[in-house]
This record gives sequence, structure tokens and C-alpha cells, in this order.
Amino acid sequence: MIALDVLAENVISRCRLLAEWSEEAGATTRTFLSPPMHAVHRHVRGWMERSGMSVSTDHTGNLRGFYPGDQASAPRLLIGSHLDTVPRAGAFDGILGVVMGAALIELLDGRRLGFGIEVIGFSEEEGVRFGVPFIGSRALIGEIDDALLARRDAAGISVREAIAAFGLDPSRIGEARASDSAFGYLEFHIEQGPVLESLNLPLGIVDAVSGQSRFDVLFEGRANHAGTTPMNLRRDALAGASEWIGAVEQAANAIPGAVATVGRVVVSPDAGNVIPGAVTASLDVRHTENAVRHELVERLLECASDIAARRGLTVSCTRNLDQPAVAMDASLTQLLARSVALCGWNVHRMASGAGHDAMMVARRMPAAMLFLRSPGGISHHSDESVLVEDVAIALGVGMRFLEELEQSEEMKQSLV
Ligand code: GLV
Ligand code: MN
Ligand code: MN
Repeated sequence: MIALDVLAENVISRCRLLAEWSEEAGATTRTFLSPPMHAVHRHVRGWMERSGMSVSTDHTGNLRGFYPGDQASAPRLLIGSHLDTVPRAGAFDGILGVVMGAALIELLDGRRLGFGIEVIGFSEEEGVRFGVPFIGSRALIGEIDDALLARRDAAGISVREAIAAFGLDPSRIGEARASDSAFGYLEFHIEQGPVLESLNLPLGIVDAVSGQSRFDVLFEGRANHAGTTPMNLRRDALAGASEWIGAVEQAANAIPGAVATVGRVVVSPDAGNVIPGAVTASLDVRHTENAVRHELVERLLECASDIAARRGLTVSCTRNLDQPAVAMDASLTQLLARSVALCGWNVHRMASGAGHDAMMVARRMPAAMLFLRSPGGISHHSDESVLVEDVAIALGVGMRFLEELEQSEEMKQSLV
């Protein structure tokens, strides 16, 4: 059997290799079904096939490798994460979970378990291209609707057209649904924050994933000449949006555990000598308690209206996401905690501030997540990294989890 530290080195170099496939020279930017995703699929498919998996791509572009169990009728465990990235990303957010899933199959080295394993590289989790996250995992749970398929990216291409352009068939999205024999989901992911490093721990067990609200907030004023329009006669959409962005930061600061971000601003007409006539600002609000998140969102949107009214602007909001906080499955999580403890590590339970495919999958089946320490707490940044020793530990825990699962009540129940 391949040694864990050697496999962990392989995992890291595979993630770094995939990071080279990008829409942007010199950076890793790989949005939903963008051309470099073809090469990423080619590599991951090769690694999966070499360890005995049969591999297919569903019609939302999720890459799916299947490793059978000891009988044709065996139930299946899903292991997954995503292959898309934010702009100028690191090499590990999402990708690590897919590559580790494939590595666990390599570790099994042909050994059959009482369940099959399907490793899934979700096509979209970040929500960058179409403003709505989790397109891949939504397809797995059968929750893609016509409104989502009709959404358009910045170039005017719809989700439906993007799927066809990638060589897939949007009329066959229904086939992406998880098999009825799937009984659970496991996701490995970097923590993307500083907590585990501060505790000097390699791993964390996710209890719950924070809820998220995402909006586009459009401020409209009037574009006019920057030289001839006196200050008191302007309706400057960007000045209004900027005032609001400051208020967003202040309001979130005042609520323990809340985070609110305006990460994207599109200014029109976007010229130095023209007063901005329109600004679209993104808004991302998160908290582990849904009521707190909703109250904060309401306050921030009211604040946008007040600022707009005072400045002679109009404001309109489009909600792109209202994703409730999601608890991970108690018994699968307990099994994961037991595996961590059996491997000799402290069990640290924590909430995730980042969204994950596990949030979607948990709507349909028990889901659990294992976090790996993020050096420097850095993510959504090219400096994102992971320690080879942590990957080796997580692979060991993953193997232990598979063994524990085989003996567990969950498995026995899924066989009923
Ligand atoms: C996904 O990375 C998120 O925005 O939480
Ligand atoms: Mn991310
Ligand atoms: Mn991620």
C-alpha cells in the first residue's frame, strides 16, 4: 500500500497542477464550465480510472467516478467537493476534497467494501459566473429549475447555453440526481480560516455551516459631466453606494458572529470624467442563526433605501441566495469524530463560515465534513495552502472512517 505521506505529497502536487488550468494567465480563475475545466476533468478522470473507477460527466458538468462495493446491490457513499474557483484563487478550495476522494480510492488499492464510493467533482460551488452558487450540488439533489437555467453571465450566456457549449445536454440535467442507493456524503475541505491553526490542530469536524444571503443592490442616479455639474446638483450613484458600503461594515461589526461583505461593484458608465449613473453592488451576509442573518439583511436593505432617498437616487435589490444554516448529520459526524479520535487526534467541533456543497447535499442525505487546517487562515487567495502532514493525517482519518462506516448502524440501516 502506498505510504500516507507519499500519497499526501501527490495530492498536493495534483492540486497545484490543476491550479495551472485557468481562464487567466498567471492566476487561477476557473468558473463554471469555462474552457479550462475540460483539462481539469481530463486529469482527474485519469487519476480516477487508474485506481479502478468508472468515470462519467453528468449534464451539469459534475465529474463522477464510481468505485463499486463488494456486491452489485451495495449502497454508495458519496465523497465530493468542487472544481470551480473564485477569481485569482488558491489551489485547494474545493479541489483538495475531490483529489483526496480519489486518493482514498487509490489507498483502498482494489479492496472492496460493503458499500460503493462515488467521488464527485462538482462543477460549480462559488457562484461566480452566474451569481448563484452550488449549481453542481443542486443538480445532484434535483433542484435545478428553469429560472436558474435562464440566468445569464456577464457575456449574456445563459446557464443552459453554457452547458451546451461545454458539450453537454441541458435537457438531461435530471440524470444528475444522486442514485437512490446513496446513503451518505463526506466532504474534505480546507478550513479557510484561522481557528485550527490557532489551536495547533490539523483537523476540525464541522457541526454546522452558516447560512448565507446574497443580493445585487442597484443604485441609480444620473450620469452627467464631471466638470460642469455642481456638487449640489449631482445624483452620483457611486457616492451613494460608497456611503452604504461603509454602513454595511459598521452594522455587521456590531453583531457578534455576523459577517457582511460587498465584494463586487460594477460602475456605469465607468469613466473618470463622468458622474456615475448606476452602480451594482453585491452583498453577502452570513451568520449561524438564520433570524440574526435575516434581521441584518433587512436593516442593510433599509439603510440602502434611506441613503438613496436622501441623495435623490433609486435603489432596487435582487435576491440571489437565501441559504439557511445547515446542520451536519449527527451520527455521521459522530462517526467521523470517532475516526479522528481513533487516529489519536483531538476532536474539535466547529461551525463553517464558508458555504460548501455539503449544505446542498444535506437536504437529501446525511452529510459530514472534515476541515484541514489552513496555514495563515488564508483562502480565496493565491497564497492559500495546506500542510502535507495534515493531508496525510486526513487521509488516515478518511480510511478509518470508511472502516468504521462498514461496521456502523448507518450502513446496516442503509442495507435494510
Ligand atoms: C464559498 O467559498 C463561499 O463563498 O462560502
Ligand atoms: Mn470558495
Ligand atoms: Mn470551497
